[in-house]
Amino acid sequence: MNMSKAKKESFNPFNFVIFGGDGDLALRKIYPALFHRLYDGQITEEFKIFAVCRRERSLDDFLKSVLDFIHESGKEYSSSPHAQVFLSKIELVQVPDYTPKSYSNLSQALNPYKKAPTIFYFSTPSSAFGPISSALRENGLINNQSKVVLEKPLGNSLATAIDINRQVAESFQENQVYRIDHYLGKETVQNLMVLRFANHLFEHAWNSQHIENVQITVAESLGVQSRAGYYDQSGALLDMVQNHLLQLLCLVAMEPPHLLEADFVRNEKLKVLYALRPFTKKNIKTHSVKGQYTRGKIAGASVSSYLEDIEKFDSKTETFVALTTFVDNWRWKGVPFYLRTGKRMPKRYSEIVINFRPVAHNIFPSGEEIPANKLIIRLQPEERIELVQMTKIPGPGGYRYKPIALKLDFVDNFKERFPEAYERLIMDVVRGNQTLFMRQDELEASWNWIESITKSWKDVQLPVVLYEAGTWGPGQAVMLEDHVWNTKGYAVD
Ligand code: BG6
Repeated sequence: MNMSKAKKESFNPFNFVIFGGDGDLALRKIYPALFHRLYDGQITEEFKIFAVCRRERSLDDFLKSVLDFIHESGKEYSSSPHAQVFLSKIELVQVPDYTPKSYSNLSQALNPYKKAPTIFYFSTPSSAFGPISSALRENGLINNQSKVVLEKPLGNSLATAIDINRQVAESFQENQVYRIDHYLGKETVQNLMVLRFANHLFEHAWNSQHIENVQITVAESLGVQSRAGYYDQSGALLDMVQNHLLQLLCLVAMEPPHLLEADFVRNEKLKVLYALRPFTKKNIKTHSVKGQYTRGKIAGASVSSYLEDIEKFDSKTETFVALTTFVDNWRWKGVPFYLRTGKRMPKRYSEIVINFRPVAHNIFPSGEEIPANKLIIRLQPEERIELVQMTKIPGPGGYRYKPIALKLDFVDNFKERFPEAYERLIMDVVRGNQTLFMRQDELEASWNWIESITKSWKDVQLPVVLYEAGTWGPGQAVMLEDHVWNTKGYAVD
């Protein structure tokens, strides 16, 4: 049986309407994702894209920007005939406000294609999700076949998330709503499910008896770029932990779902979120660190401080956060989960490290410490799984041993181009598969836990510690668990 061959799917025609259609995310991720699915033959020419913009703009200039972003994935793509076909699918629609007059522009544009189902992608601040949903409903643009994709961050607190979900629910049923977290579309993240649930080997050892701690790290070398306004309101906790890191934690910690189906998977993730130990005034100082980058050097180039980047010199927003948390259930009793994320780190890398417990007893005459096994799941920049295990150093001299990694390198083993996370997730929306999208209760549970952190930070007035750009963050973060968060361990090349 050929296990590697992808199933050829055929999709019915669909309309893809992007609010925030000339925004950064749409240009950088959404159009290139749709283009690549067309290029790979997964979607045929039977679709239409409507880029909804608030201001008037020239179609030619707009398509040129779309092409420039396609070009970033390779010249062979932007110069292919597919690129021209793709551009011919895009229509610009100006919708400056929520009035019926504005929405009639969209109605008219969609009218010739109204037999096909429409996917509405909200790539706007989440405060607009409710008003856009109502305007779509009031203008008769939603039917049973419609779907809506909600970009993160959904709200900035539990109360706002509940309110936005409630507003969207006035127009869409929960089974029409896709709350996207692009980390769940990353190839290695999905592979985590296969690794855990399609191999006999790991699942038996996947518990507190065998695992000493779990480390989840998302380090970025980039700063805040052009998103100063948004970022300064969010900080690393809301921008990265509330969604991406928590989703990774859920996939590591959840029980095996009955089947790989949306609600079975989401039920298991939800249980993990409920079991996360809340932060309190008592544990927040010892279990969390907030940092903010100052000027420094990355790959030899000088970079400015966060305050200079955002041009606001009294900001206390964190660009780095490290947390120690626990999943209070039978499987994970007493196992710390270390979560870390930061901007302006020396390089971009994200990974999950499962640190196993050391062997029970050392039989070797040297008595030298035997480092424990590690399973490293590298998400980016390269996608790879490594199992670090002890091996005898060949030759005489008695039993000398050292840790060697068994590597499964995706780039070496699977030669094709890897689809970007958004490609996979957008196609899941088209096919109506909600497995990799968050349900409302999951989102609310994650906000609930995050608020235990924001509240405790406020209660104890936890200061933000400065760290130099191009370093691995404040020294205090090392203190949370010193043998892994360093630049020499297996975790970082
Ligand atoms: C986004 C955050 O969700 O994820 C950004 O808002 C961050 O601040 C980005 O840079 C990281 O995504 P990736 O896929 O590059 O790791």
